[in-house]
Amino acid sequence: MRILGIETSCDETAVAVVENGNKVLAEFVYSQVEHAEFGGIVPEIASRQQLRKIVPLFEMCKAAYPLSRETIDGVAVTYGPGLIGSLLVGLNFAKALAYGWQLPLIGINHLEGHILANLLSDNSVHPPFICLIVSGGHTLLVRVDDWCEYTVLGSTRDDAAGEAYDKVAKLLGLGYPGGHKIDEFAKDGRRDFHRFPIARFKAGEYQFSFSGVKTSVALYLKDKDDAFKQQYLGDICASFQECVVEMLITPTLNAALDHGLKMIAVGGGVAANSRLREAFQQRASQYGIKVFFPEFRYCTDNAAMIASAGCFRLQKGQRSEYDLTATPYLPLA
Ligand code: KG4
Ligand code: ZN
Repeated sequence: MRILGIETSCDETAVAVVENGNKVLAEFVYSQVEHAEFGGIVPEIASRQQLRKIVPLFEMCKAAYPLSRETIDGVAVTYGPGLIGSLLVGLNFAKALAYGWQLPLIGINHLEGHILANLLSDNSVHPPFICLIVSGGHTLLVRVDDWCEYTVLGSTRDDAAGEAYDKVAKLLGLGYPGGHKIDEFAKDGRRDFHRFPIARFKAGEYQFSFSGVKTSVALYLKDKDDAFKQQYLGDICASFQECVVEMLITPTLNAALDHGLKMIAVGGGVAANSRLREAFQQRASQYGIKVFFPEFRYCTDNAAMIASAGCFRLQKGQRSEYDLTATPYLPLA
């Protein structure tokens, strides 16, 4: 089964063809850079850029893989969650293609894509497992009982982990998005330089909270001058990161142990974080738990993960109607 995937939920425009859920035959991604000067994503700019890029990307994909009614089995597209203007571009483009080719249209939840991204990188990940989705907009813990069968175990009570990274990066003058820069500077820093607060929850509650650490960093930096920030940049980054990593790993490991599962998969932009990868492997190996991370290019938004989810949904006989609407707040389950 070969599926064309289309992803335009935020500031990436992506088109890909995937065979049998895990073999990428062609893939193209355009990441918008226009938002950096505004310190965050400007929805109006995002949707206009989606409109400019979707056809050229589709043409590039068509040049790499002969897209036609005969060579693919369906069109999978993200219909939420995300920015309404951005979602509409990909969704309408996908509807037109599916209708023109008379092929099934398969609407996909973007978060499901971040789970499937793991399968694109390692074939050995298989349900049941616990998945931690950590991106700029989401932080949630999911029990995956089968492909397309999810139970949400917990989520963040306030900010997403990536959001906290981006806000702290802004406070440190590192620009937007700053998660990967904190990751880099933290490599030379002392993790025990300053103790930022760790949010803890009752046993059996798989919750996250990042607004406390964000505020704590803001208060800590309030009376520090630029020379101090520059001198201790690596230490501040490493201390902040250690706190976030701890708050991500503990509830996830607890969920795996409580549910008796030996596999954890991580998805979303923050899954690219080097300290999260290292610390997770170390901690989980003590319990004989294997942790999967997607390759870097499948941590951030891409269309291969959407096409992969489309393969499994179509295999199960699921398809969408043409009245499928773009849904900015779309729960995973
Ligand atoms: O999944 P993604 O591309 O977009 C959303 O769906 O939100 O994730 C983007 C987020 C941003 O907040 C960015 O700062 C963060 O992922 N990020 C990182 C790293 N690389 C990207 N955070 C920490 N460490 C990284 N290496
Ligand atoms: Zn995403």
